[in-house]
Amino acid sequence: MKPVFVCAVMFLIMLSGCDRGPKSGYGFRLPDGDIDRGQVVFVELECNACHSVGSVEQLTTANPDSIISVKLGGKVTAIQTYGQLVSSIVNPSHRLVGRYPRDQVSNDNGESLMRNYNDEMTVTQLIHLVAFLQSNYELRPYQGPRDHLY
Ligand code: HEC
Repeated sequence: MKPVFVCAVMFLIMLSGCDRGPKSGYGFRLPDGDIDRGQVVFVELECNACHSVGSVEQLTTANPDSIISVKLGGKVTAIQTYGQLVSSIVNPSHRLVGRYPRDQVSNDNGESLMRNYNDEMTVTQLIHLVAFLQSNYELRPYQGPRDHLY
């Protein structure tokens, strides 16, 4: 066997091993939440200070220069799992959204500018929030390059 091939196989084994490591999300399952209650929570916790989603407009603030505006929901080519959504909410710096310039969404230390809710949000609120957010994403399967249609 070629050494390159052996390395590739070992790398894949390592990767799949990571999937079930102590820090993997394997086995994580939230109860199903309620979309309407999630929208109420979204407004109550003022998530719309920095986000717009669906029919919930972003709150306008006194100082437009400091407005953070990150759109949630919309058409996506890969589903937002609740694992990703929960991580974005309870651990926002874990992975920053890639579609905005870094300096608009993080501070000098690379931490997310999102407010931390971990000491005030109940698990029930989180469950409903995730159901609400998920309902605002519309999955558009990747269609490939649109050429040679006929
Ligand atoms: C002070 C502003 C601010 C508030 C308030 C805020 N966020 Fe955020 N949020 C951000 C910023 C900035 C980002 C992008 C950086 C990042 O990925 O963490 C973000 C990212 C997110 C993402 C990931 C978006 C994506 O496309 O991957 C989710 C989900 C989210 N926020 C949900 C919430 C929810 C739910 C609340 C209310 C409980 C909330 N946010 C309150 C600023 C805020």
